[in-house]
Amino acid sequence: MKIFLDTASLPEIVWAAGAGLIDGVTTNPSLLAQEDSETDPRDHLTEIARSVSGPVGAEVVAVDAEGMYREGRDLAKVADSIIVMVPMLEDGIVATRRLTSEGIRVCTTLVFTPAQALLAAKSGARYVSPFVGRLEDIGQDGVSVVAQTREIFMHYGLECELLAASVRTPLHFIGCARAGADAAAVPPAVLRNMLIHPLTDRGVDQFLHDWSKRIARSRAGV
Ligand code: G3P
Repeated sequence: MKIFLDTASLPEIVWAAGAGLIDGVTTNPSLLAQEDSETDPRDHLTEIARSVSGPVGAEVVAVDAEGMYREGRDLAKVADSIIVMVPMLEDGIVATRRLTSEGIRVCTTLVFTPAQALLAAKSGARYVSPFVGRLEDIGQDGVSVVAQTREIFMHYGLECELLAASVRTPLHFIGCARAGADAAAVPPAVLRNMLIHPLTDRGVDQFLHDWSKRIARSRAGV
């Protein structure tokens, strides 16, 4: 499963890309708004695209079809790696059709049902992004939406990729992987959380402790 770091933080992107942990980046207006307000968002997106090899998701903020279309075309010019993120709205479907007809890659975002995902795929989206955590916020099973969407896409041989988002825990990540998501948008904190385990730390400490005793014995000639 591909991992897209879900952040607009350049230091975090440089860290994860340098460690070979990620296949791309996803941003959204809220994530961009958290970063340095001095920089033009397009310039910030340019820096992100330079910092990672792989797709970079950048979201439109218009909510009308014409505005989404125009913003999408502008965002696509920022870098070849840009994936235009368009919210799952009726106007978003219209804009997605126009953008994809011009060869611009689109991810339909803020998807919450398999029906929305199927309509997004039919509109030509390259990715659809169901929000797992936000479904759980209202007591629904977000991972099952990923699994049902995967089942439908496989049934009809749809090539649209499933990019699970709002992944807030390692369990969300594993659940989406088991459900067959093609990719997951993972925040830096969740990615770090996935890397560590207390038993790993304890095992390393024990190995180093035992090794240091062995070295001490050989130095003492015993
Ligand atoms: O990529 C979408 C993601 O940033 C949303 O996550 O935790 O705000 O639902 P969250």
